[in-house]
Amino acid sequence: MTLELTWWGHACFTLKSPQQTILIDPFFDQSPTAPIKAAQAEADFILQTHAHFDHLADTVPIALRTGATVLANFEICEWLKCQGIADEKLIAMNLGGGVSLPWGRVKMTLAHHSSSFPDGSYGGSPCGFLVEVADRKIYFAGDTALFFDMKLIGLVGLDVAVLPIGDLFTMGPADSIEAIKLLNCRRVVPSHYNTWPPIRQDAATWADRVRSHTACDPLVLEPGFPIEL
Ligand code: NI
Ligand code: MN
Repeated sequence: MTLELTWWGHACFTLKSPQQTILIDPFFDQSPTAPIKAAQAEADFILQTHAHFDHLADTVPIALRTGATVLANFEICEWLKCQGIADEKLIAMNLGGGVSLPWGRVKMTLAHHSSSFPDGSYGGSPCGFLVEVADRKIYFAGDTALFFDMKLIGLVGLDVAVLPIGDLFTMGPADSIEAIKLLNCRRVVPSHYNTWPPIRQDAATWADRVRSHTACDPLVLEPGFPIEL
C-alpha cells in the first residue's frame, strides 16, 4: 500500500495513505517555511505532540474545517473542547498508551521537553508518536532531547524515524546520531530546523554524518515535496 510523507517545514508533516491523511503538529500560517496555508491543509486525523505554538498554531481551524479527529494528551484535548472541537472528534491519550484505529495504531511515546499553551497554562506532557499504518512503523519523536529509552521504542523495528535536529530547543545533530543508533531505524527524516536562524542546521552535512556513523539512510525533505515511504 502506498504511503507518502510530506514535510511542511518545521515539525509539521502529512502522512498520506490511500485511506486517510494524517497531519502532525499543524503549523502553516505563521511558519516562515510552510509552502501552503492552513486553509489548504487536509486532514482526517491530527496528531498533536505538545501545546507549544509552533506545533498547535493551526490545529483548531484545520480540525473545525476538515472534521478531523485529533489525538493528543488529555490536557490538550480538554483545551480543544473549549475551542469548540466536538468531544467525538477527540482522542485523549497519555504517555505509553496506544489506540487501534480502523487503519492502524498510534502509540503515545515519551518525549523530554516542556508543554504549555500560548497563555502559559499547563499543556500536559509532551510526547512523540509511533504510527503503524500501511504495514510501516513510523516514529515521530516530537520535540525532545536524546533519551536512552529510544532503545525500547526501536524494538518494534522502525521503518522511519522523524527526529528533530535543530538544537537549542531540542536535540541537535550530534545527539540525533546517537538517537538513530538507539532506535536502529532503517531511514531517518530530520525536522525542527531551518525555520528560524536560531535553529539553522546544514542538512547535507548532517546526512553525511548519518551515513558515516550509522547504517541508517537519511532522507532530507524539501517542504511541500512528498516522498514515498
Ligand atoms: Ni516545543
Ligand atoms: Mn517546537
